[in-house]
Amino acid sequence: MIAMGIAATLALQLVLAQKADWDPRDDGPGHIDVSDYPAAQQKEYPLFRVKCAKCHPVSRPINSQYSPTEWKRYMKRMIRRPNSGINEEQAEGLYDFLKYYAGRTSPK
Ligand code: HEC
Repeated sequence: MIAMGIAATLALQLVLAQKADWDPRDDGPGHIDVSDYPAAQQKEYPLFRVKCAKCHPVSRPINSQYSPTEWKRYMKRMIRRPNSGINEEQAEGLYDFLKYYAGRTSPK
């Protein structure tokens, strides 16, 4: 009975959190070396790994090259999705991380 309950819950989560279709970026690297990032951004990294891996692999954002303005737009789009599991406060922190990441990865 418990196993059935768990299976039903997982199935429900799959339905509620819309899974994104496969994208070539998903097969790219799935890690960022944050060892020389400032403390504030290092602190956000674990949250980013969990929250942004719910509907597509975390490699999707990692292998996307966006400017801070574009990231702002994408963050709004992602958290507006039903059952995104990301609240406003977390979104601020995640955006801060992505903004810094964009500065590090954009061609100079
Ligand atoms: C509730 C599900 C969900 C969550 C959570 C989620 N995403 Fe997505 N994401 C999607 C879907 C569905 C797509 C594909 C459709 C689209 O591009 O809007 C997508 C696409 C993307 C893309 C590619 C956009 C493009 O135009 O090609 C990026 C980048 C992205 N997500 C970043 C993130 C980041 C960063 C987070 C964490 C803050 C996140 N996602 C969390 C559902 C989600």
